[in-house]
Amino acid sequence: MQIRENVSLKPYNTFGIDARTRFFAEAMTEEAVISIAESLEEVHHPLLILGGGSNILLTKDFQGTVLRVSAKGIRVIRENEENVWVKASAGENWDDFVSYCVAQGWGGLENLSGIPGNAGTSPVQNIGAYGVEMSDTFDMLEAFDLETKERRTFLKSECRFGYRESIFKLQFKGRYIILNVTFCLRKKPLLCLDYGNIRAELERMKRGVPRVADVREAVCRIRSRKLPDPVVTGNAGSFFKNPVILPEEFERLKGTFPGIISFPQENKIKLAAAWLIEQCGWKGKRKGEAGVHSVQPLVLVNHGNATGKEILELSEEIKRSVQDKFGVTLETEVNVI
Ligand code: FAD
Ligand code: EPU
Repeated sequence: MQIRENVSLKPYNTFGIDARTRFFAEAMTEEAVISIAESLEEVHHPLLILGGGSNILLTKDFQGTVLRVSAKGIRVIRENEENVWVKASAGENWDDFVSYCVAQGWGGLENLSGIPGNAGTSPVQNIGAYGVEMSDTFDMLEAFDLETKERRTFLKSECRFGYRESIFKLQFKGRYIILNVTFCLRKKPLLCLDYGNIRAELERMKRGVPRVADVREAVCRIRSRKLPDPVVTGNAGSFFKNPVILPEEFERLKGTFPGIISFPQENKIKLAAAWLIEQCGWKGKRKGEAGVHSVQPLVLVNHGNATGKEILELSEEIKRSVQDKFGVTLETEVNVI
């Protein structure tokens, strides 16, 4: 195992923040993840588990060890006439994994195309897009418990998946290293085309009866118009969650702000945070090197050399103005380190 010292994390986070870590190790296999995690005990604490770095904001140098999980591998572990169970190692790139499944014609992940990060991180915030969440096809995962030093299996019912939420973001935050995730996909896909402008995009593409590969392409095309490419402009996707509020609170807001954009969410209402932020005048605004994206104001961006602290301060100002204007609290989606 090679442990490097005083390493810049700039290449390892999509915000492109130049924070440093005292120690840095990368694990290329699941066994290496476990042996590094065990050997680091006591010596190099604290430990930060890193995947693709696309959902973190580094606000200072890290005084411990960053363990980057890069274990690769995709394996079919079971199948029947209807379904196929596919296991991805945690360090497998998420979109490469989706692309592989789509190429086999398996259905279930195509709407989640184009999301950065690792397969092993996908359960942490139960990634979602275009009407689908990872939990819809999740079967189980294996993780290493940093407290008991044992491997453990988590079934879906144990993960407490919700909107951008799971047990790994709540009471088990930082306790488990996810080693691999198994998904149950459909051999005869059921396409989910009702969200946003997927149908309109498919019509523009003129492919006739859509297949999973067409849905993947449509989603990628929509995403590339809306979201900044982290290779060009540092960002971590939506910085905040869309607020979910009670119907009575929504009625009050709708009375004052008839144009408010909302979506039903079980027996609650989900507000479009992008609209709230835009109404507060933030869209496209810039404070030094930190900014608000000009197309999708839910995304905060690094225009060049912003520090994590500057981006965090900007996010707090945005939160305050949304609170003052609408009485709505924005919750941060990104993991602030
Ligand atoms: P990291 O940023 O490396 O880590 C995130 C958190 O998970 C950290 O707290 C880390 O400690 C922990 N973690 C990482 N790996 C493990 C592991 N193996 N075990 C346990 N904990 C771990 N998200 C969506 O849901 N939907 C979207 O549509 C979407 N679009 C995006 C678009 C862009 C342009 C960007 C930059 C981001 C977007 N995201 C989206 C956010 C992000 O891609 C996801 O949250 C992704 O799952 C993060 O994966 P990662 O490997 O990069 O995580
Ligand atoms: N809107 C505005 N002003 C704008 C932009 C958008 O009012 O400048 C309104 C739009 O009219 C639209 C609504 O906001 O009706 C929602 O916008 P969009 O469809 O772009 O989606 P979002 O709610 O902002 C969510 C996820 C994204 C995911 C997309 C697609 C969250 C926090 N974000 O964004 O996930 O890709 O839907 O499903 O739920 C992420 O989590 O990092 C992420 C990018």
